[in-house]
Amino acid sequence: MFGYLKFMSDFYQYHLFFCTHEREDKAHCQEHGAMSLRNYAKQRVKELKLKKVRINNSGCLNRCALGPMLVVYPEGVWYQYKNSTDIDEIIESHIMQGQIVKRLQR
Ligand code: FES
Repeated sequence: MFGYLKFMSDFYQYHLFFCTHEREDKAHCQEHGAMSLRNYAKQRVKELKLKKVRINNSGCLNRCALGPMLVVYPEGVWYQYKNSTDIDEIIESHIMQGQIVKRLQR
């Protein structure tokens, strides 16, 4: 755990992982537009010039029924989001002010 925190402090203040997994046999995040909302988040972080914030795709995070899901480190806070308004709130509250968005936390 301490090694990861050291890594975080050296490179990123926040690291967001968006599940963009897609499959045919059961629920998956991509069926809710995960990739386009991940791309929106990446664009907003760039527009806001937020340094030390990294956004990555992830495979299945095994919380498929709640999808689309993302997780924010270093805190390990999980969010269920539905649209760009939710992404804006996560960025403006959690990433910019350090305040967890309770209404989206799962
Ligand atoms: S498909 Fe996204 S959590 Fe499983």
